[in-house]
Amino acid sequence: MDASQRITALETVPTDSTVLFRVTNGADGPQEAILVATESGADEPELACWLNYCQHLTHIKIDKGSGAPMRDGELVCANHGAYFDADSGECTHGPCEGAYLSALEITVADGDVYLTDDEYTYLGVGPIDDGDELTSTSNVEF
Ligand code: FES
Repeated sequence: MDASQRITALETVPTDSTVLFRVTNGADGPQEAILVATESGADEPELACWLNYCQHLTHIKIDKGSGAPMRDGELVCANHGAYFDADSGECTHGPCEGAYLSALEITVADGDVYLTDDEYTYLGVGPIDDGDELTSTSNVEF
C-alpha cells in the first residue's frame, strides 16, 4: 500500500457519521470525500466512500465539516432532506431520488483505510478551506 494514500485507521470510521477528507483528480482542484462504515451484518464493518456532494445541487456538501447526519443507515443532506443509502449511494428519498453519489475506490489493509482510486489522489483529512480553497496548505496531521 502507498502510505501517502492512507486516509485513516479503520477503527476511526463511524457507522453513524462520516470521516471527511480531501482529494484531487488533478484537473478540478481539491474536492471533498467522505468515508462511512456501513452495517452489513458481517463481523467487520463494510466501508463506503463517496464524493461529499449532494446529487440535487452538486456544489452542496453533505458533510459540512462536523460529520454528515445519518438516519437508519442513510446519509442525510440537510439542505432539502435528500436521503442516500450509505452502502449503495442511492438517493432513496428527496429531490434527487434515484440518483447516486459518486463512489471512490478504497482498500482496507492492516487496519488502515487507503484511497486506491486511479482517478484521485489523497490530499489530507478535513474539509477544504473554502476561504482559499485552491491554495490551501493545511498542515494538520493525525
Ligand atoms: S442540496 Fe441536497 S437535497 Fe437539495
